[in-house]
Amino acid sequence: MRILSSLTAALLLVHGSVQAAGDIDAGKAKSAPCAACHGADGNSPTTAFPILAGQYQDYLMRAMEDYQTGKRNNPIMTGFAAPLTKQDRADLAAYFSSQKSSLYTVEYSD
Ligand code: HEC
Repeated sequence: MRILSSLTAALLLVHGSVQAAGDIDAGKAKSAPCAACHGADGNSPTTAFPILAGQYQDYLMRAMEDYQTGKRNNPIMTGFAAPLTKQDRADLAAYFSSQKSSLYTVEYSD
């Protein structure tokens, strides 16, 4: 048990050091240019733009990286992703993933 938990702690340390921590407030400040299409809180007003609110942080990070490398090719997003630093991407991903997604609109009651 003891060995296992120190192993876990070591893994967490390694993991934490490679992944830039996103800052929600910084991400909000940086999200102004994104709002026109994706909505201020990431809930896009139309189906033409994907909803970013409530998506997993690593998914959003990956999508932005893929636009930068060209793995994902979209003329609009290539332009918007290009200037983002790793810290920008982490902050933006932290902000949008922390927002409540309008995808979850159904409320069940007994
Ligand atoms: C002019 C409109 C526009 C602006 C502004 C814009 N985007 Fe996008 N975004 C799009 C479109 C269109 C797509 C879908 C592209 C595709 O099909 O890959 C998209 C896709 C994305 C995706 C992938 C989402 C998914 O689930 O696949 C992310 C992440 C994203 N945008 C982040 C941002 C961020 C961060 C900003 C601001 C820095 C931003 N976008 C600004 C139009 C925009």
